[in-house]
Amino acid sequence: MQDRYTPEQVETWRRDGAVVIKDFFTPEEVAAVVADFDAVFGREGADAGLEKKQAGEVGRFHPSQFKDIQPVPIECSPALNLIGVHPALIAFAKEALATDDVRVYQCQSWAKFTGDSDYDQPWHTDFSNHTLTVPSEDATKNTVTILCYFSDVSDAHGPMNYVTRPDAAEVSSPVDSLSRDMDVQKRIQTDLTRRGRSSASTAGTAIPYCIDVYHRGTNLTAPKGHRYALMTCFKKAKDDSIGFTAWQFHHTKPWANIFNHATPEQLACFGVQRPGDPFWTPTTIERAQLRYPGWDLTPWKEAMR
Ligand SMILES: [Fe+2]
Repeated sequence: MQDRYTPEQVETWRRDGAVVIKDFFTPEEVAAVVADFDAVFGREGADAGLEKKQAGEVGRFHPSQFKDIQPVPIECSPALNLIGVHPALIAFAKEALATDDVRVYQCQSWAKFTGDSDYDQPWHTDFSNHTLTVPSEDATKNTVTILCYFSDVSDAHGPMNYVTRPDAAEVSSPVDSLSRDMDVQKRIQTDLTRRGRSSASTAGTAIPYCIDVYHRGTNLTAPKGHRYALMTCFKKAKDDSIGFTAWQFHHTKPWANIFNHATPEQLACFGVQRPGDPFWTPTTIERAQLRYPGWDLTPWKEAMR
């Protein structure tokens, strides 16, 4: 998996808090995921019936920015359902978080279309809805969010913009960033804009970033443009301080699309015990098979022998 990214890129993630990795996914992987995006979200142009955030209200959040988000599992092929737990993404997350066991705690596809919203967001960090407290100063104790592009994203296609951790440190201390003084916040927003970098890149790019890194969504201005992306977030196993999705709560979704095609390591990202775990007995295996008739439990059965 090392050929998907370099040790230097992991180091850049640790130092800067974000790194743009072009050609992380192969053209074949991208094509299969795009076919799913087209089937699930595909259309040309804006959604006419939508209550929109109007252009001009620059730098605000609005529900219409988040309209076309679908967490996994999704009614489509295994390509989109499993791309967020691609072995190379798991490998990157393990290295980044300095652990050999990770969990995926958010994994969602996100389609954006020119005109559906003004997608411009303020500079923000993602920790507020991933933890109830604040980020650790040690990146390995936080998380890695990986934004993956499955369409070519120019500056007219709403690339995430970000500010590296060293650049942001010139603008705001960790304490300033939580100031309730609106003048301080306005100054931080302005100063971050001067240091912002675009993540514009081609389909197949992966952009791992930290929960304490300033970033913002930007608007789509390309005529009839769209942006197909996936957000997948990893944490260390047994880290109860981090969360977003309780997968079990969404049990009515089409989990067979994941169970019937995933490896034991991919299922472990969702909390499914690996082969050899004492959880697995003849009875739990038989019952799991009844719940997911298409799940190939051979590795779990063999590990029990
Ligand atoms: Fe964000």
